[in-house]
Amino acid sequence: MESKFIIGNKRTGSLIKIIFFLLICSRVSGQQTEIIIETSSNAMVLATNEKGELSTSYFGKKLANKTEYLKIALQYKQGQEYTGVAGAAYTSAGAKNLLEPAIIVSHADGNNSLDLRYVSHEIKVIDSNVQLLGVLLKDPVYDFNITLFYKSYFNDDIIEQWSSIQHNEKGNVTLYKYASANLFLKAGSFWLTQYHGEWAKEMQPEEARITHGIKTLDSKLGTRTNLFQPSVFMVSLNSPATENSGTVLYGALEYSGNFKTDLELDYQNNLRIISGINNYASPYTLKPGEAFTTPAFIHLLSNAGKGAASRKMHRWARNYVIPNGNGDRYTLLNNWESTYFDFNEDKLKELLKDARKLGVDLFLLDDGWFANKYPRNGDVSGLGDWEENKAKLPNGITSLVKEATENGVKFGIWVEPEMVNPKSELYEKHPDWVIKQPKREEHYFRNQLVLDLSNPKVQDFVFGVLDNILSKNEDLAYIKWDCNAVIYNAYSSYLKNQSHFYIEYMRGLNRVLEKIRAKYPHVPMMLCSGGGGRVDYAALRFFTEYWPSDNTDPLERIFMQWEYSYFYPAISSSNHVTDWGKQPIKYRTDVAMMGKLGFDIVVNKLSKEELQFCQEAIKTYNTVKGIIWHGDQYRLSNPRMSSVASMLYVNESKTSAVMFNYLVNNRYGEGSKQPILLSGLDRNAKYRIEEINLFPGTKSSIDPETVYSGDFLMTVGLNPVVNSSRNSVALKLMSVN
Ligand code: GLA
Repeated sequence: MESKFIIGNKRTGSLIKIIFFLLICSRVSGQQTEIIIETSSNAMVLATNEKGELSTSYFGKKLANKTEYLKIALQYKQGQEYTGVAGAAYTSAGAKNLLEPAIIVSHADGNNSLDLRYVSHEIKVIDSNVQLLGVLLKDPVYDFNITLFYKSYFNDDIIEQWSSIQHNEKGNVTLYKYASANLFLKAGSFWLTQYHGEWAKEMQPEEARITHGIKTLDSKLGTRTNLFQPSVFMVSLNSPATENSGTVLYGALEYSGNFKTDLELDYQNNLRIISGINNYASPYTLKPGEAFTTPAFIHLLSNAGKGAASRKMHRWARNYVIPNGNGDRYTLLNNWESTYFDFNEDKLKELLKDARKLGVDLFLLDDGWFANKYPRNGDVSGLGDWEENKAKLPNGITSLVKEATENGVKFGIWVEPEMVNPKSELYEKHPDWVIKQPKREEHYFRNQLVLDLSNPKVQDFVFGVLDNILSKNEDLAYIKWDCNAVIYNAYSSYLKNQSHFYIEYMRGLNRVLEKIRAKYPHVPMMLCSGGGGRVDYAALRFFTEYWPSDNTDPLERIFMQWEYSYFYPAISSSNHVTDWGKQPIKYRTDVAMMGKLGFDIVVNKLSKEELQFCQEAIKTYNTVKGIIWHGDQYRLSNPRMSSVASMLYVNESKTSAVMFNYLVNNRYGEGSKQPILLSGLDRNAKYRIEEINLFPGTKSSIDPETVYSGDFLMTVGLNPVVNSSRNSVALKLMSVN
């Protein structure tokens, strides 16, 4: 059988032929087409059969010789495949498919079947790391087509997949399901790590073997959609992956709204993963010529365990997603837990001085600064009325920004612009802007309702809240954007078609955020949603950092930050030192340093030593934050498996590192009895180790003069000497010549 490699197709051929290291290639043999998407470690092979049906013929570690992908299918003897489309690259419903579909449609004539056949594909080289493949599929009977997109990041082993659905039928088509991606994997067994949570209990992991049938991860909350379950997950192949070994697929949907991921272990023991916007209550009416583009589903396949996967994810996120992902961040003092709603200008002026005394870059004014008719003195009123409260702030935000600048600190502010308290002027003036069922009793989440962002007037209002504050205060340096409520009684008095509601809400939110970023590209923004209710890679395209949880008990945070760290880089994790938990301030500060450090404490209640400790810790942090934010992160000792948790950050040149170690079990005699194995260092380099963040008056148990080779530290390890009297130990490693 003669086969010929072609690079790209006719339209892109000439450009691409000159790029000899092309990563996606295709081969046509007879009528069949094979498209190979290669990243540094893996290959995803898409192939058509003689009918032009496109399937995923292979997804796994890449082969040295591309011609051998054709031989893979012969190695599987899994019995009869009744449909011929079980491994479809995008499974359609209503024809011969018998499994979970990626797309369900009802055509203009009421027919419910869809059959997709390969037409062509196109490859765009974006840069030396990134390529975009588009594969056009068409129904042979209906004028209905889908383009499947695969954006591959070579060095990162990441592929973003999405689809664009279009038709030219004689009337509207209804989409009942419209997934972003449809993966197909083969292995001996599959193990799912998923997360669940609640307020103050985010990112609780569970791992189990995937059994036959469908396991669904989803959200129907409308907004704050991660409250019970985030969309991120991992699937290990053959056996549960560990930090440093095993094959594991990371998955995440770039979407802040309702999501749905179905993991179907089919009767032939293959795993089908179908992920996208949740079709719950959302049949979508697609007009002729209109394109419905899904959000992207990101996946990353690692053959070297979870650690390598997470470091690739971090690098990708810093390079391609998070604004200023490789840049700088502000340390801050927040007033939420020190004042709650009870403050005025004088008190804030004192806090500005405290911020300076502490040595942080910025003061963040939280909730409670706005509303006059129904003052925001608690969470029951005022939300939506974004004028400064005259009793609390007679001279407005502008005077505070000025005062902060005079004190040598920057000023930031909290907003929650998507929401409204029924007790507010906004609600009185615009009841039609609020999401609620017209004939039903209102139901509140934290005494508030969600504004209808599907309405362009509401979009303008929400944009205006930010635009007004930012344009009036040029020096305003930081926004904390909160989103506390979920959507009950989903109904828009603006929309004609209620089944578009959840989708249009997210489109509206996206439009607002795009407009804000177009006008204010640089202002750092923290993504908060009553804690970590909206941490995802769609939102993180606009936000520089996220708030993992309102739970800042450092012991809890060690566990939570550990899990978040599989998916999101340290630079994006806002960690504040507060009064939660029983641990001393040193422990709390060390934990908060594993990301973007902030404080939310009453500075004048600190003892002299505590204040001195915090001041020195901030200075130290300023010398190591670059390693934590821009370096590689290694999870050394898992708090769920050991009495000591240990995390390491290593800079790119492997010349410096920071290691954090904590006692997470207070039973008698617990501590670091054995050395902890380090990772990611230069085996041939020599390192001196210095204990940092020592509490005034305490002595280190680590000898700063001993020199260790990278080889020793990564073969034997190091004992940080963690015990009940040294329950938090931070170490800095520096290479010496
Ligand atoms: C949410 C946030 C907190 C704080 C309050 C203010 O709960 O998660 O950090 O900003 O709102 O009301």
